[in-house]
Amino acid sequence: MGKIKAAVIGVGNCASALIQGTFYYKNVAEDEFVPGVSKVKLGGYHIGDIEWVAAIDISKYKVGKDLAEAMFQPPNLTPKFANLPAKLGVEVSPGFVLDGVAPHMKERFNPVDNDARFEDVLDTLKNSGAEIVINFLPVGSEEATRQYARAALEAGVAFINGMPVFIASDSDGEWDKKFREKGIPLVGDDVKGQLGATVFHRTLVRLMHMRGVKVEETYQLNIGGNTDFENMLVEERLKSKRISKTSAVTSILPYGDELAGNGKVRIGPSDYVPFLGNTKIAYFHIKGTSFAGFPVVVEAKLQVDDKSMFAGAMIDVIRGTKIALDRGIGGIIPSVSAPFFKHPPIQAPSDETAYVWFNEFIEGKRER
Ligand SMILES: NC(=O)c1ccc[n+]([C@@H]2O[C@H](COP(=O)([O-])OP(=O)(O)OC[C@H]3O[C@@H](n4cnc5c(N)ncnc54)[C@H](O)[C@@H]3O)[C@@H](O)[C@H]2O)c1
Repeated sequence: MGKIKAAVIGVGNCASALIQGTFYYKNVAEDEFVPGVSKVKLGGYHIGDIEWVAAIDISKYKVGKDLAEAMFQPPNLTPKFANLPAKLGVEVSPGFVLDGVAPHMKERFNPVDNDARFEDVLDTLKNSGAEIVINFLPVGSEEATRQYARAALEAGVAFINGMPVFIASDSDGEWDKKFREKGIPLVGDDVKGQLGATVFHRTLVRLMHMRGVKVEETYQLNIGGNTDFENMLVEERLKSKRISKTSAVTSILPYGDELAGNGKVRIGPSDYVPFLGNTKIAYFHIKGTSFAGFPVVVEAKLQVDDKSMFAGAMIDVIRGTKIALDRGIGGIIPSVSAPFFKHPPIQAPSDETAYVWFNEFIEGKRER
C-alpha cells in the first residue's frame, strides 16, 4: 500500500516515543501480537510504513539538528529504546513560538530568538512531501496550535491534534468545514493513551453505571515529572485540558454534566514531581450509592510510562488518518478520533463502541 509520510510539530517526549516506536516495531511479523497497537498491519499499512519526513520545534537545543539527535536533547527524557539509524535525514525546522512557551518554561525549552514566518512553516510542510502532521505542543499553546493548523490546511496536509486545543472538536465546526472544503482529514483532540488515566476512569465509571450505582462524586489526580507536567503547573494554561479530561469521564453518565455543574467532579494534572520523570501516577476516587442507599467507594492508583501510552495510540491514529486520505475524505473523522482522543468531535457512549466504529471505518463499512 506504500508508505505514510508524517511530520511532527514539537520534538518532545511524546514525539520521541512515537518515532522510536515505529523503528522498534519496523520489522515485526504481521501475525505477531504487539502490545499497544490494534494490529501490526492495519488497513494494509504496517507500523514500519510510517516514515518521518519533517519536524518542527522552537528550541535552540533541537532546531537545526537531525531528528535522530534532536529527540534526545534536553529537556527530553524518553530513553533510547529502539535501534535507530544515526541520522534520519530530517533536520528540525524552526516554528512559531507564539504561546507555545510559557514564561516559567523559557529556560527549560530555550526558544530561538526569532519566530519563523508563516511562509517558512508552509515551505517546511510542502517541501517535505508530508501527508500528515501531528501536533505535540505543550498544553496551553492555543494560538500556536491554531497557527499550525492553518499552515497544515494551506499546505494540504492532514492534521492530527494530539493535545488539548479544540480543533477537530471545536464547537462551531469551523475547522471541520475548512478541512472538508480542502478534502483533507482532521483528527483529534488530546490523545487518550493506551491504558492511561482517562480510559481507566471511564471504565470504572461505566462499570458503576452499568451495575446501577449512582455516581455521587469523583476525582482524578495526576502527577508526573517531565516538562508536560512542569508546563501544567500554571492553572491558566489548563483550561482546555481540564475540560477535555473531565468531559471524557462525565460523558459516560447521563447526569454527568449535572454532577460536574454541582462541583462533584475534579479531574486534571495536579502536581509536578521531578524525580518521577515520564512515570505518571493517577489517583482515582469514585463514591456512589447502591441498593437502598448504601455507599460504594472505589479508590485506585494507576502507574504508567506516560509517553509510551501516547505512542501506541498514535500509531493507530496515523494509519487511520492515512486511510481517510487514501479514500479522499476531508474534515473530521469521528471513528478515528473517538477511540484514541479524550475530546473527539463525537464522543462514543463507551470505549467498546468507539473501537467498533474504528474497525468498521478501517474495513470500509463506515464512511467517516
Ligand atoms: N500520554 C501523554 O503523554 C499525552 C496524552 C495526551 C496529550 N498529551 C499532550 O501532548 C503534548 C506533548 O507532550 P510531550 O510530553 O511531548 O511535551 P514536551 O514538553 O516533552 O514537548 C513539547 C515540545 O514542544 C516544543 N515547543 C514548544 N513550543 C513550540 C512551538 N510554538 N512550536 C514548535 N514546538 C514547540 C518544545 O520545545 C518541546 O520540544 C502535550 O500537550 C501533552 O499534554 C500527552
